[in-house]
Amino acid sequence: MRGPEPSGPQRPEGAPRPAPRPRSEGAAGPASGGGPLWFGGDYTPEQWPEDAQAEDAALMRRAGVTLATVGVFAWPLIEPAEGRYTFAWLDGVLDRLHRNGVRAALATPTASPPLWFSAAYPDTLPVTADGVRITPGSRDAYCVCAPAYAEASVRVAAALADRYADHPALALWHVHNEYGTWCHCDHVARAFRDWLRDRYGGLDALNDAWTTAFWGRRVTDWAQVLPPRTTQYRSDPGHVLDFRRFLSDAMLGAYRAQRDVLRARTPGVPVTTNFAFGDWVPVDPWRWAPHLDLVAVDHYPDRPGRAAAEQTAFAADLARSWARAGAAARAPDGAAPAADRPAHPWVVMEQAAGVVYTGGRVVPKAPGELVRHGLGHVARGSLGALFFQWRESRGGAEQWISGMVPHAGPGSAVFREVCDLGALLARLGGARDAEVAADAAVVWDPECQWALGLPSLPAPGLDHTGAAAQAHRVLWRSGRTVEFTAPDAVPPRVPLLVVPALYLTSDTAAERLAAHTEAGGTLVVTHLSGLADPRGTVRTGGYPGALRGLLGVRVERFHPPAPGEEVPLSEPGYGTGRRWGEHVHTTGAEAVVRYTGGPLAGCPAVTRHRFGTGIAWYLSTGLSDAGLARLLADAAGPGPGRPPGLEVVRRRAPGEAWAFVLNHTEAAHPVAAADAGLPPDAVDLVTGRPATGLRVPAGGWAVLHARTG
Ligand code: GLA
Repeated sequence: MRGPEPSGPQRPEGAPRPAPRPRSEGAAGPASGGGPLWFGGDYTPEQWPEDAQAEDAALMRRAGVTLATVGVFAWPLIEPAEGRYTFAWLDGVLDRLHRNGVRAALATPTASPPLWFSAAYPDTLPVTADGVRITPGSRDAYCVCAPAYAEASVRVAAALADRYADHPALALWHVHNEYGTWCHCDHVARAFRDWLRDRYGGLDALNDAWTTAFWGRRVTDWAQVLPPRTTQYRSDPGHVLDFRRFLSDAMLGAYRAQRDVLRARTPGVPVTTNFAFGDWVPVDPWRWAPHLDLVAVDHYPDRPGRAAAEQTAFAADLARSWARAGAAARAPDGAAPAADRPAHPWVVMEQAAGVVYTGGRVVPKAPGELVRHGLGHVARGSLGALFFQWRESRGGAEQWISGMVPHAGPGSAVFREVCDLGALLARLGGARDAEVAADAAVVWDPECQWALGLPSLPAPGLDHTGAAAQAHRVLWRSGRTVEFTAPDAVPPRVPLLVVPALYLTSDTAAERLAAHTEAGGTLVVTHLSGLADPRGTVRTGGYPGALRGLLGVRVERFHPPAPGEEVPLSEPGYGTGRRWGEHVHTTGAEAVVRYTGGPLAGCPAVTRHRFGTGIAWYLSTGLSDAGLARLLADAAGPGPGRPPGLEVVRRRAPGEAWAFVLNHTEAAHPVAAADAGLPPDAVDLVTGRPATGLRVPAGGWAVLHARTG
């Protein structure tokens, strides 16, 4: 329903803050119960002539937009000179959104400081590892450790909150944008030293953790500790790993400083920031999630077709899992989150409406993909489907990045799909807080990804996230829904837990994995796991270090095949071994598959170990997706047996259940309510008709809903 069109608050620039209006949790929108699914995207009317906003309003109504992200890059407009604020334009934008029934995710603009600010405070510009202070002229030119930047960020956030605390359009605070700018300046050096003092207490512990005795790198004074700037040869791996951890914490501190001023002024409005995916992102979402009212992610697949659907599911399952962990950590005394709130509050804050230019690749979206990807996120728990951006820009650095309203205008297939998705989401609000039912879990740890990117490893190209993505992809194709877990968290109660390349394995993680198996769970551990402790120090005595007893194996040495080489295996269904190989001795486990060629011929390649009442499997080589599918099927039984690419995600709430069906294949497929885990009287919310005899067309979708008593 669209709201009435009251005139928005008309306050002069710099007017004092009105007494904060008590805001009910429901008023905040989907993050905390109540309200429709969010649909919309980044909205930057400041790029367009004033009269374009009237057309925007009409098109947003037509598309069913419910949320617009405003102000992400608007710092120079909000504060054109130090301490001078100009809000009239933003008042106008928010008032118009409100009159048209659209809520606002109001951003703090701190990802892009104004040019005047960089000129006045050049020490806030980031410094590269080579010691080059970057020139202002693009975005993200900030150092979270520079005091002037920290102070200005909190000040502009406070000014926004003072101005809009009472604005009826305000639904969500969007702090900053994709925290991630690296800096190696002297402010960072000081903050890094403080962080290290907290972590290690003294220099002896630091020297021990970083093994500085090697290469005579002993640190004798804190002043010698610097960010990992460019060095003659390899840096100490412990140093580089700790710097990434530090950056995550430093950025979290910057986020929390803004969140605190926003929360103090608008206690009922949820606060978030949007995570980017990618190796450059020095953010540990498990550590951040408890500090966010909901998790927000930006996701851009870098492969077309089915692979894009798999990547979408991977990102969405990660986001939901971070959100679940965050909500659980926030709940008092470990109690479950309140029943009227999602157990896993998260939203896809940005996705592409059309072609994506990413990592040097051009990835177009085929007809139907806009809806399937948007719906795919919602299926996996997103509180809506949001895009970057509403209108494609005419100029600027991202003038060819796609938008919901393309350059061609609303008379376009993209905008028609946008309208289709908006109309569909308007019918799915009932599922918003429903639980996503997972039946397998995968461990993911950003620290392992960072550690496997260090320049001191037994082979190049090692990849924890890649291994997690492969496990996820294989499970996705088998029809399973995955939950991710941090290694130190108690694994969720699922029949199957996969541990891919868990290079850093803490004692706690090893205990948790053992407890899961002992209690009857199935565990599948892949090579590169258990090797080092959280400092990155190798656990000696045989690999896989911390997990030897649990897996019943001892690995004497690595023997990876040459790039491109494949090693034959004794079980044809497993294909060939590739990328990695190990000389495995069993110490309680039984060999399920052996290497049958090359220097490892006769050695176990895949083992199985009964541990307590469960079974722990170990995979000492790399497999193709088909080979890994066979291993996971041997370990945990086959999946539901749907055609690969027919994605079904089940969600349930007390007395109701939904099944989201996304057909990423080129053929129509019948879907029976029972196959999707629903009672026979389910209705397809897409058509409004009973689901009996349902065939989901090639590239199509259905959302089944049923009462469950
Ligand atoms: C990111 C950013 C946006 C925009 C898009 C473009 O996710 O947050 O500002 O640059 O990418 O794809």
